[in-house]
Amino acid sequence: MKDTTTLATLLLAAGKGVRMHSDLPKVLHEILGDPMLAFVYAAVDRIFGPNVWTVIGHKAELVRAAFPERDPNRWVVQAAQRGTGHALQCAWKQLQEAGIDRLAVVNGDTPLIPEDRLRTFLDRAQAEDADLAFMTLTLDEPGAYGRVVREAGAPDGRVTAIIEAKDYAYELHGPEPREINAGVYCLRMSAIDPLLWRLTDNNKSREFYITDLVGLAVREGLKVLGVNCGKDDYLLGVNSPKELMAAEDLLRAKIVEDWLARCVIIRQRDSVRIGPRARIASGASIVGPCELYGDVEIARGVCIESHCFIKNSRLEQDSRIFPFSHIEEAQVGPQCQVGPYARLRPAAVLEERARVGNFVEVKKTVLRVGAKANHLTYLGDAEVGAGANVGAGTITCNYDGKNKHRTQIGANAFIGSNTALVAPVTIGEGALVGAGSVVTHDVPDNMMVIARSRQVTLPRRLESASKK
Ligand code: UD1
Ligand code: MG
Repeated sequence: MKDTTTLATLLLAAGKGVRMHSDLPKVLHEILGDPMLAFVYAAVDRIFGPNVWTVIGHKAELVRAAFPERDPNRWVVQAAQRGTGHALQCAWKQLQEAGIDRLAVVNGDTPLIPEDRLRTFLDRAQAEDADLAFMTLTLDEPGAYGRVVREAGAPDGRVTAIIEAKDYAYELHGPEPREINAGVYCLRMSAIDPLLWRLTDNNKSREFYITDLVGLAVREGLKVLGVNCGKDDYLLGVNSPKELMAAEDLLRAKIVEDWLARCVIIRQRDSVRIGPRARIASGASIVGPCELYGDVEIARGVCIESHCFIKNSRLEQDSRIFPFSHIEEAQVGPQCQVGPYARLRPAAVLEERARVGNFVEVKKTVLRVGAKANHLTYLGDAEVGAGANVGAGTITCNYDGKNKHRTQIGANAFIGSNTALVAPVTIGEGALVGAGSVVTHDVPDNMMVIARSRQVTLPRRLESASKK
């Protein structure tokens, strides 16, 4: 018979993250350039399709704004953060109205949860027809995680409850187990519905715990399953800067190893940080320390030397990025050279064989095929024609205090050193601008312009000498 169960997931992301000691909502703290919650979405989206709901609350607008592409009808607001059980209560009606039968609840602070492990867990819950299943881990140090209590303390014994670390008492619960709750649950909604409203905040935190559903379900004789995943660091929750860095270190090393396995040369690999969305062709080479974040695409033969920071940019075949270059939202065409010490800002586009050298800043500017700006230059809101040469110290004066204006430099033009191009201004094809010019008017094609005061040479008056 075809399984007609409607499956959905609810991510809990409303908490403040007190232990992070930060104004930023916890789920927006980044791991290798992406917010924690983005990792959870990457894991759940392929499993649940459009059925992904998220509970937000603390600084909800910031979380929403960080994910503008998400379906606006799938946010649930938990106005006051009164615990994980309360977060579930806030979403419940919406989920019932959507006809959801089985619900996977995932803590939004479990960023490294692998898609395949979540799938295996859900299959198991479904195969065993559990009313409530949850993932557990066995740790040497159970820390602040919820303790999983089993009958007679046996690891394979029937689960009886999850007791939060703060509320665990030897007299009541026996010797402390090393098995902890990973914060991932699968609920049969019809079975859990009557229990959800029986949660209380009668505990040390004065919060409604989702974990209390376990004890309630056991007492009701429902089928409860604690699925033990051993010691799996990818399932650990992130609650403090130390845990955030532990997750980042784990993922960083894995990503670098994965790219090495796909034939990307990575030198000084321990100091290379590559985000989860990077696409790198085999045959590219990277030297650490180096950071590559966001939507970065690197073609075959590209060489990125040390101390570069590259974010949301595309580098095409055989380009070379020399050390200490900073590239963000830019495109570098084939066989270009950038740096050392170059800065490509958003909408900087270098076409084939273009060159941008040391202490050159480029913003919203296209350098056409073979164009060069090799030293000490600012190019903003400009187009530099093919083969043009921009001399050292050239500045496009693009801002008049109110508006930005464009500078157009024609193909094969030559801009002498220390030139100010006061935009809007056009330098024609093949034109030459003398060094030290302040150009305020357009220069026609193939003309030469010198816009500086003429040099005056006079005999020197040596006053002290004449007095003698
Ligand atoms: C929770 C579990 C604990 C488990 C651990 C695994 C409870 C009571 N405890 O503890 O058993 O071992 O996760 O990592 O659930 N949140 C809301 N609304 C709230 C409170 C929290 O949406 O009112 C969200 C948080 O943003 C977070 C998640 O729920 O993403 C878990 O909350 P957190 O405070 O981190 O719970 P833990 O103490 O880690
Ligand atoms: Mg947590």
